[in-house]
Amino acid sequence: MTNTPTNVALVQVLGAVAYGEWKAYEGAKADADAATDEATRRRHRKVAAEELRHHKGFVARLVALGADPERAMKPFRVPLDRYHEHTSDDPVEAAVFGYLGEGIADDLLQWLHKVADPETAAFIDTVIADEVAHEAAAAADLRDALASEPDGRRRGARAARHMVVHLLWSGRRGAAPLAAFIRLGRPHELVGALLSGQARRMSAAGLTPLGIR
Ligand SMILES: [Fe+2]
Ligand SMILES: [Fe+2]
Repeated sequence: MTNTPTNVALVQVLGAVAYGEWKAYEGAKADADAATDEATRRRHRKVAAEELRHHKGFVARLVALGADPERAMKPFRVPLDRYHEHTSDDPVEAAVFGYLGEGIADDLLQWLHKVADPETAAFIDTVIADEVAHEAAAAADLRDALASEPDGRRRGARAARHMVVHLLWSGRRGAAPLAAFIRLGRPHELVGALLSGQARRMSAAGLTPLGIR
């Protein structure tokens, strides 16, 4: 691999994505362990296996590009660990974080697909195929929570604002994952995709865009 600025940026982004997939695996595994019925446990176990496949695949892409995967992931450990430390006893808030988190990951993958090398893009196609189902399941969980909890809409809008603040706060130290994506180029497309994705998902869930009234 030649050390062009684009390749350096691509390695940084793949490091962020590889570690993000690891955190998704850990989260799904914890959900499976906490499940109180067999069907829910099976659903989370399947997601955990898929997230682990994604993680291993992005690690393999880093190796193929001549990078050290541990070194590439390291700067993103603190911000992503901090982001995923968030837990909530409020089912509406937990569902909003799950849905919007899956959505942001999907938007980032779609964008990465456009700027990555052909082999990485081909692998991303297989990841997106799994993530479409994850996002649909997270959307269904959110619809259930909004419908069954009292004052669901207001709590959902508040949780969405909290999620954005938490996302920014998590990246305040260390390498913020979004900054690495922006260095890869076409930042206006990325920011546009994230903002419109967030607004689209909020209205799809029956909440006001960005949780602001
Ligand atoms: Fe994934
Ligand atoms: Fe996922």
